[in-house]
Amino acid sequence: KILILDFGSQYTQLIARRLREKHVYCEIHPYNTPIEKIKEFKPRGIILSGGPASVYAPDSPKVSKELFELGVPVLGICYGMQLITYLFGGEVVRAERHEYGRAELQVLDHSDLFKGLPDKFTVWMSHGDRVLRIPEGFEPIAKTENAPYAAIRNRERKIYGVQFHPEVKHTQYGDKILENFAIEICGCEPTWTMENFIDYEIKKIRETVGDKNVICALSGGVDSSVVAALLHRAIGDQLYPIFVDTGLLRKGERESVERTFKEKFHMKNFKVVDASELFLERLKGVTDPEQKRKIIGHTFIEVFEKAAKEIPNAEFLAQGTLYPDVIESVSVKGPSATIKSHHNVGGLPERLNFKLIEPLRELFKDEVRELGRELGLPEEIIKRQPFPGPGLAIRIIGEVKPEYLKILREADAIVLEEIKKAGLYDKIWQSFAVFLPIQTVGVMGDVRTYDYVIAVRAVESVDGMTADWVKLPYDLLERISNRIINEVEGVNRVVYDITSKPPGTIEWE
Ligand code: XMP
Repeated sequence: KILILDFGSQYTQLIARRLREKHVYCEIHPYNTPIEKIKEFKPRGIILSGGPASVYAPDSPKVSKELFELGVPVLGICYGMQLITYLFGGEVVRAERHEYGRAELQVLDHSDLFKGLPDKFTVWMSHGDRVLRIPEGFEPIAKTENAPYAAIRNRERKIYGVQFHPEVKHTQYGDKILENFAIEICGCEPTWTMENFIDYEIKKIRETVGDKNVICALSGGVDSSVVAALLHRAIGDQLYPIFVDTGLLRKGERESVERTFKEKFHMKNFKVVDASELFLERLKGVTDPEQKRKIIGHTFIEVFEKAAKEIPNAEFLAQGTLYPDVIESVSVKGPSATIKSHHNVGGLPERLNFKLIEPLRELFKDEVRELGRELGLPEEIIKRQPFPGPGLAIRIIGEVKPEYLKILREADAIVLEEIKKAGLYDKIWQSFAVFLPIQTVGVMGDVRTYDYVIAVRAVESVDGMTADWVKLPYDLLERISNRIINEVEGVNRVVYDITSKPPGTIEWE
């Protein structure tokens, strides 16, 4: 396995992605991980990531030179290469011109890092400092027009540096360079496959759990579904999945989750807790979005806790924490380096007093989907669009009333049905209906109407942080609008939200 030491580059996670695509297992840890821990990790090779700092700045993040005495190959990327240069007595200076974007790399030596690659190809640069003089024992193995030391090597000690970013897709053959480092130079075996992962995790789960029982909150979303499927394969009916019906779910959602896990997966102990009355009761009269979120969050924990207590011999709680939630991200700001570590975002509180099982801790989202497929989960779950925890409550503006929920559920079902029929569901990040508690005047037949408004929202996004509204075809919008007005009683007007994020958010509340 490969150890990636993170110096705060926005691309660090991509290094891990590229290696895993080549079936090489790797982990990301902060640059200041103690040397003892690194030894314990027993890496076959170490990669030093890029980062925003300058090596000659007094407080810049560094590593101990001991790292290079471990006898394993080291590859420094961008800042990582500058750090190697600095530590071994070379010279790094501020570049007169920052180099961002494409450059043509000319390979000078094809024997290891660039094995099997063409003489010239495009690489992606992004740096403000550059190496002026390389340390003794090092030699250049590639150059660009502006950088005579675009890649360097100390052949004897197996230390490598590249000034460009092999981990980004804009670098041609970047994945091949990382593969060469991991497999050719470090001797890693490409054994990181889903099948191996499943076997390994199942064994581990069985050993951990023994004859105790495990509970999990199953929402029907991708992560919790994959956790449940994996645990069920490992320990069968020792798994007690709990599904909380908050009364804020979409049309047919509870039934569909029940069908999948009870009937298809034969989870005998799958338990549905219908708490819709409690949630609706507590939301009565509440209009503030954050207040609604708080009430829903607390109530969920309360309901889940109560259900969990009724399960005999339960000692473990399984959760779908993913790798991006776990990585201790490094942020290097100004002269002093501060480290933020964030664990387990959005999990259930510790006071529940269960031991945690987090079998997805090492996986990225697309790996979770792949795992789900291996485990036989239906595509409808694997490709499901995100749905917020507070559910329809934040898609009804202001107070949540049963009457509004009923209208929104019907309208939302139509939006999803038409989007799916048009073949767009998988291409869109989220698509849904929002209920607006305003009445407007309309005419249906010969009768004046005074009914509510439904807003349709469809956005494209990569991670939900920024989003663009989708230019849905007019005829699709027309069908959605006609159907909602004709089929959903209480609605006489449909509008389409044409706001991007920023300045809008995806949800209306
Ligand atoms: P916004 O509305 O902030 O949403 O642009 C970004 C993404 O987060 C989801 N979202 C939530 N998910 N609890 C959740 O679990 C929440 O309170 C919540 N609010 C927004 C939203 O659906 C979108 O995918």
